Amino acid sequence: MSFHRSAGRLWVEGVALSEIADRFGTPCYVYSRARLTENWRAYDDAFGARAHRIHYSVKANGSLALLNILHSLGSGFDIVSGGELARALAAGANGSDIIFSGVGKSRQELIDAVTVGVACINVESEAELDRLTEIAAALGRRAPIALRVNPDVDPQTHPYISTGLQGNKFGVSMVEALRLYRKALAVPSLEVRGIACHIGSQMTSLAPISDTVGLIVDLAKALEREGCQLSHLDLGGGLGIRYRDEQPPAITDYVRVLCDVPERFEIHVEPGRSIIGDAGVLLTSIEYLKAMPTKHFAICDAAMTELLRPALYNAWHALELLEPPTADVSSRRYDLVGPVCESADFLAQDRELCLSPGARLAVMNAGAYGFVMASSYNARPRPAEILVDGHSVTEIRPRETIGDLMASERLATARELP
Ligand code: LLP
Repeated sequence: MSFHRSAGRLWVEGVALSEIADRFGTPCYVYSRARLTENWRAYDDAFGARAHRIHYSVKANGSLALLNILHSLGSGFDIVSGGELARALAAGANGSDIIFSGVGKSRQELIDAVTVGVACINVESEAELDRLTEIAAALGRRAPIALRVNPDVDPQTHPYISTGLQGNKFGVSMVEALRLYRKALAVPSLEVRGIACHIGSQMTSLAPISDTVGLIVDLAKALEREGCQLSHLDLGGGLGIRYRDEQPPAITDYVRVLCDVPERFEIHVEPGRSIIGDAGVLLTSIEYLKAMPTKHFAICDAAMTELLRPALYNAWHALELLEPPTADVSSRRYDLVGPVCESADFLAQDRELCLSPGARLAVMNAGAYGFVMASSYNARPRPAEILVDGHSVTEIRPRETIGDLMASERLATARELP
């Protein structure tokens, strides 16, 4: 067990989280290398001998040390920006390990992606196809592409993280797909390699995934009838994890559904959350307990700036005390809130907790979409990130300083533009 309780204390692998909090302060993120590795291998093992490629979705957590571990396991990377491209390369990946998704790729991002030779650009509109055609021709290169199709399947998840419905901005409609593939096939500077899709995140049911696989395979067969040989089908990411009482499918069952794809196609996946989500926690300390007429608040040193998910999606994260409470403390229902000046600044609501000022907690399952969505709102430096590997502890990112926040700013000068 990567995170476990022993003698009343919460541990990650061979290290007590309270020791990490003592040494590095709070708030901070802590990751388990063992859990990260186990999660990635669960995908790889589930595919077995079936031709496949796992492109970890960098958006879930792009810290270099974590990307580097995944790279050493054999992972590829799914990126959505030039910044994520630079991160994947800095972590050791080659262009051929990278696929590039996203609705708004800039001219420069496409130039950089073609120049480093990414394995596939998942094109999301006709305008992007035209832009890429022109860029690849100007560079004298053939850009490898897939069209990201929007299959209009309901992933049965939070509306903000549904991506494969007709009303979402992502991908091209199934109706448009054939026409755009024909157009791409006629362009010498493009090389059509596959079909891509991604219908949503935190999915806990296999039915929408299986429906999507069926639609993508039908499209692949239709393209084959037109003489277009595809080498891969990219079936997206999106497998959910258990935050509270969800029952997400096991990775093996999920992969079995993906393997319905005919053998001649290599299967690509782009998981993020299911690889890093349960491998990370956010540590925080209680600053104050505050009784209001209708509620008790526990005010802690982490906020929506460190973990936006509760404020943005009303997401529920389990809380665990790092050490047993002292005997004189009684349990109460608290809202766990941060110091930020927003009423949406909560990490948890209405939780039965045994708290005293100075108590330290872990917000569980914070490895995915935690640090990456952190901001410096209210001039709050972003937290440190710590990686644990057995008994060894590495600060993979030091806490930002207030100086860092102001480092590149300049005062206005009175001079006018020439
Ligand atoms: N591929 C594409 C094209 C995506 O849009 C996403 C996530 C993924 C892969 C990875 O999906 P995953 O396996 O992590 O579910 N901030 C939200 C999640 C946004 C997900 C957006 N797309 C949250 O905190 O729940």
